Amino acid sequence: MKDRLIALIDSALDTLTANGVLPAEARQPVRIERTKDKSHGDFATNIALMLAKPAGLKPRDLAQALLDALPADPALAKAEIAGPGFINFFQSDNWLASQLEAALADDHLAVPRPQRPLTVVVDYSGPNLAKEMHVGHLRSTIIGDAVVRSLEFLGHQVIRQNHVGDWGTQFGMLLAYLEEQKAEEGETELSRELANLETFYRAAKLRFDESPAFADRARALVVKLQSGDEYCLKLWNEFNQVSLSHCYAVYERLGVSLTAADVRGESTYNDDLPKVVADLDAAGLLTEDQGALCVFLDAFRNKDGDTLPVIVRKADGGYLYATTDLAALRYRAGQLHADRILYFVDQRQALHFQQMFAVAREAGFVGAGVDLAHMGFGTMNGPDGKPFKTRDGGTVKLIDLLDEAEQRAYQLVSEKNPELGQDELRAIAHAVGIGAVKYSDLSKNRSSDYIFNFDLMLSFDGNTAPYLLYAYTRVVSVFRKAGLSLDQAQGEFLLREEAEQALAARLVQFGEAVQSVADKGQPHLLCAYLYDVAGLFSSFYEHCPILSGDDDALRASRLKLAALTARTLSEGLRLLGLTPLERM
Ligand code: ARG
Repeated sequence: MKDRLIALIDSALDTLTANGVLPAEARQPVRIERTKDKSHGDFATNIALMLAKPAGLKPRDLAQALLDALPADPALAKAEIAGPGFINFFQSDNWLASQLEAALADDHLAVPRPQRPLTVVVDYSGPNLAKEMHVGHLRSTIIGDAVVRSLEFLGHQVIRQNHVGDWGTQFGMLLAYLEEQKAEEGETELSRELANLETFYRAAKLRFDESPAFADRARALVVKLQSGDEYCLKLWNEFNQVSLSHCYAVYERLGVSLTAADVRGESTYNDDLPKVVADLDAAGLLTEDQGALCVFLDAFRNKDGDTLPVIVRKADGGYLYATTDLAALRYRAGQLHADRILYFVDQRQALHFQQMFAVAREAGFVGAGVDLAHMGFGTMNGPDGKPFKTRDGGTVKLIDLLDEAEQRAYQLVSEKNPELGQDELRAIAHAVGIGAVKYSDLSKNRSSDYIFNFDLMLSFDGNTAPYLLYAYTRVVSVFRKAGLSLDQAQGEFLLREEAEQALAARLVQFGEAVQSVADKGQPHLLCAYLYDVAGLFSSFYEHCPILSGDDDALRASRLKLAALTARTLSEGLRLLGLTPLERM
């Protein structure tokens, strides 16, 4: 509705410009706000106040001229001038009802599909395979997945890229240790040992630090690995497969849509790296600095004003994280034909990505029409406000955190529902526990840090997963009581009560909410929307008896509003990667 109103006002402004009332160069983007108090309409704009001066008119007079030039629209019941020159817009209830009707009749909730679907490459999760996934990977994985689901729902083609860290010097140490263990313990023992990658990594590191012979062997293995030695590649592959299987277990547990097909690790770009450097050279971008090859871009300077280098090849001939990312950018724009490339990576890598984007554009790896965005996120902190750690200061394995969430949720739901059977309790505890961890993260603006808190995320009050999941079960229980299924609600929408109108007006904005997640990469906008819908349903439920009234037409209309609420909540929760429950 906002976009629709903006188009109407723009058209009125065009008329005023054509008539010489408003100088063309004074034009500004139109802003529309949703009004808090319904008696002032549904939306308002201050555009007449903004443009009065250049037009040489009093704001109220300009507002009147705008209203005179405003094209008619079935969605608009009326528009009026308020206060010093605001314009208030009243949505038409008939139009609203027809929108609700369309949404209810369509399994895509009448959210329009794009005329030209975009190819969107989304880089997310990207754990380092040398270690097990830890809490630091949670945000990228779940925020990226919610945005991917939203983009797909809107009809875009998404290509997931799991840019796992599967290369680098630490693999020499791991391979040397793997080799040693194989010789000492045999294969069965080995798989037991790899069951805990953290311990394996620590043991390898210990050997590396204590034994110079081992360290030499590790270094020799890296060189052999890099030169494509078959034996080393086999060991390396074996290790990575085990490590990846740990990742898939976490994805499955989290209900994240990444699969083996989405993995395109750093190592896949190895052969491209010399070409990337050659291309940068051909583009005249390379400078040699103490043996290292660098790109200096004017836009990137340190505090003292010196330009900062992006090193793409070290003096010893080794390549870097940046070189790989440039190769990946070139592949994504050139081979995958991306229209947009989104990176869900820690905010601390912001400078890295700004530099990558600038270098890739300078070098012509990525055309001007391709949108590049680093969707950075803040840190997940512990109660002390510092990065989340175990009691003894170690990193928290993601799988352990999820175990604890499910245990706590189990405690909670089994106390609330002692009558439920074990299987159902476990299923509910899974949906609530995992949902709580995900939702508490997704519901916050991704760029800020946040404090991880089990008690808050598992609370039934406030903008939490349990609250929303419960709200959904309340809506469907109306149908259970009536002995109807959601699609059996028949009749016309009658929007008489304010609570009905408010809920209806919000329900038709589902598409806008999903669109904003896809555009900005901010799932909290959808969370806020669903929380709002749940609240509006609650007041509707309180003020407008659904099943007890004796007016059949009213009962039918209210059932339909409830059905659309249920479908909207369930689709929204699904896009966030949560599992709606029938009861809890
Ligand atoms: N493996 C990296 C890390 O753990 C994240 C990779 C992000 N993606 C990228 N294209 N650089 O920090």
